[in-house]
Amino acid sequence: MKHLLSINDLDTENAISLLNLAVEMQQVNSRDVKKLPALNGRTVANLFFEDSTRTRISFELAAKRLSADVVNFSAKGSSVSKGESLKDTVQTIEAMGVEALIVRHHHSGAANTIAKSTWSNAAVINAGDGTHEHPTQALLDSLTIRQRLKGSADKGDLSGIRVLIVGDILHSRVARSNALLLRKLGAKVGLVGPSTLVPKDARELADFVYFNLDAALADKFDVVMMLRMQRERMNSVFIPNETEYSTLWGLSETRFSSLSRETLIMHPGPMNRGLEISSAAADSSQSAILDQVANGVAVRMAVLYKLLAQESSLK
Ligand code: CP
Repeated sequence: MKHLLSINDLDTENAISLLNLAVEMQQVNSRDVKKLPALNGRTVANLFFEDSTRTRISFELAAKRLSADVVNFSAKGSSVSKGESLKDTVQTIEAMGVEALIVRHHHSGAANTIAKSTWSNAAVINAGDGTHEHPTQALLDSLTIRQRLKGSADKGDLSGIRVLIVGDILHSRVARSNALLLRKLGAKVGLVGPSTLVPKDARELADFVYFNLDAALADKFDVVMMLRMQRERMNSVFIPNETEYSTLWGLSETRFSSLSRETLIMHPGPMNRGLEISSAAADSSQSAILDQVANGVAVRMAVLYKLLAQESSLK
């Protein structure tokens, strides 16, 4: 496999192997000298047509820790504002000589379009496309769950783990990629949100679908993964107002304190504190939110290594 566009590009064995490689990359990241020579002389381009903090910085760090040269393209401040097309942007960067394009775009399918085009021969990694997928986020989330709930020595799948994904499922590429990967790894997945924010295919994506958060939480999940309200993707009114959303769907201090002290709290970031998650939950010892961020570097190192440094393909 040349590209990573979707979790469907990975079978269970490949996904576990990537997570195990990420654990080896964590060991590199814990050294004083956080560097491997694996991608020396290779060039990786971050193509970000949509804002990002975690994904862009962690891909940049990942590539640099593997000794690649990195160029960062951000649509803001680029010739996109003068009307340059996706094709011309990709061909322009390709002409400068790059081996990988890491693509974030507001259009679902943008990374697939580039990968299937004749515009570029580079490996394409989907860093989040519209409401479609965010495969490296799902990989870092699974690594986080495995290490927090099964122990850092564990090298297996997530069978026996129950994960509840909460909130704006409809607009969430994180929810889609996570549901696909978690089930591939043997976990059971529940989705819960207001009926306006749960997609029609929810019952195909998950083992359980709920429309009441307190009923879902009563079913005892090991992980509660809160999602950001994606106001920028909402072209109509999906909720009456944010106060009601927070009351009905937020992980408030009261809801958080009713959970088992073993429940792991996750959020892909960026968080809307006080809307979908309270500070009591986000800043607690049960929160894995900063572990998720840290694991993003290791997972992205593993993906870049697999795609660019290993001769054997992922499949
Ligand atoms: N989780 C995530 O994709 O965050 P960023 O938008 O900051 O990259």
